[in-house]
Amino acid sequence: MKKKLMFILIPLVLILFVPIPFHLKDGGTVEYRALTYQISNVHRINTNSKSGYDTGIIIKILGIKVFDNVEESKIMNNNINANYKQIDFDIDNKKVTLNSGYVMPINGLGTYSLTGDTCYNAVSSALKSGVRLIDTAYMYGNEEEIGKAIKDSGIPREEIFVITKIYPSQFDKPKEAIELALKKLDIEYIDMMLLHHPGTNDVSAYKEMEKYVESGKIRSLGLSNWYVEELNDFLPKVNIMPALVQNEIHPYYQENDVIPFIQNLGIVVQGWYPFGGRGHTSELLNNETIVKIANNHQVSSAQVILRWNLQKGVVVIPGSSNPVHIKENTDIYGFELTDEEMQEINSLDRNEKHDWY
Ligand SMILES: NC(=O)c1ccc[n+]([C@@H]2O[C@H](COP(=O)([O-])OP(=O)(O)OC[C@H]3O[C@@H](n4cnc5c(N)ncnc54)[C@H](OP(=O)(O)O)[C@@H]3O)[C@@H](O)[C@H]2O)c1
Repeated sequence: MKKKLMFILIPLVLILFVPIPFHLKDGGTVEYRALTYQISNVHRINTNSKSGYDTGIIIKILGIKVFDNVEESKIMNNNINANYKQIDFDIDNKKVTLNSGYVMPINGLGTYSLTGDTCYNAVSSALKSGVRLIDTAYMYGNEEEIGKAIKDSGIPREEIFVITKIYPSQFDKPKEAIELALKKLDIEYIDMMLLHHPGTNDVSAYKEMEKYVESGKIRSLGLSNWYVEELNDFLPKVNIMPALVQNEIHPYYQENDVIPFIQNLGIVVQGWYPFGGRGHTSELLNNETIVKIANNHQVSSAQVILRWNLQKGVVVIPGSSNPVHIKENTDIYGFELTDEEMQEINSLDRNEKHDWY
């Protein structure tokens, strides 16, 4: 009797808790774990895997909804994107409510490579243009200038949302890193702090940030350059669910597998390098599909790319030191891309990463 029970129990536990990889015809893989992710039964899709054999029959028996080529998985992702409303991504009101309860603007200014007066002027110009979300990092070396521009603006502190990041080289002394960011920004509290990359001691660094959430000096936490496997590994080890993940996203690197996975966890996705990053922007902004769509709406290519992100539920933080561009990048709420136009841009994906992380 005991043996019979074990015979039933062991396979049941395996099916419910252990991720089962299914290899698909086109070389993609899908992992399914019954209980872990109840919102979406597709746990992980890797369309780059070279190995693979057709296990479609098993998938059908288990009733798992999967797609066996890249095109179909893109369509699936668009459907899953409809779920982003669960994190209340509100394009009409230009804001998103985070799982921490705080409200964040859905368009902002990125400040990578902006330093000194250039940074101060860019942030001041963005604030004058109505931008209320600023992204910085210890590594950008500009937190002081950003804090100064915010204080000089005269805009009430509560109206501005500042994201900063601590770098892996700081993870062994996270308290010092957080105190340094608070000191440099000097704006009472930090709206959101991210771990800039996965790295040694990332969990303990995050746990230190959790203490600052308790004390109110940091309001929300997040991660940057965390993908599906990294999230699966990291999330069970921390107490506060990240409110945001910031990753590379642009028409040539769309992360169509990762975005819905993150959003379905109730985590907001924010894209870096929306225009491909410096050195790649003209290639993207002159892409003929994007130019054609821009002409349809009498807007710029940059505005089309930013709007495409918003319609996928992705927060945008384009970088610029040019006041005209900064203003233009805020003017993305007066038009809407059609489903066909969204699909056209989705089809530009080349899985072409423009940076190493
Ligand atoms: N977490 C991470 O690891 C990570 C990595 C990279 C970046 N980031 C964040 O993401 C932000 C965005 O990335 P990024 O700034 O490096 O690259 P980006 O936004 O893709 O591109 C910035 C470039 O686009 C140009 N540009 C901006 N608006 C334009 C417009 N309307 N028309 C034409 N050109 C325009 C800018 O030139 P002008 O100055 O002349 O406007 C600049 O050369 C960064 O600033 C940073 O905050 C995070």
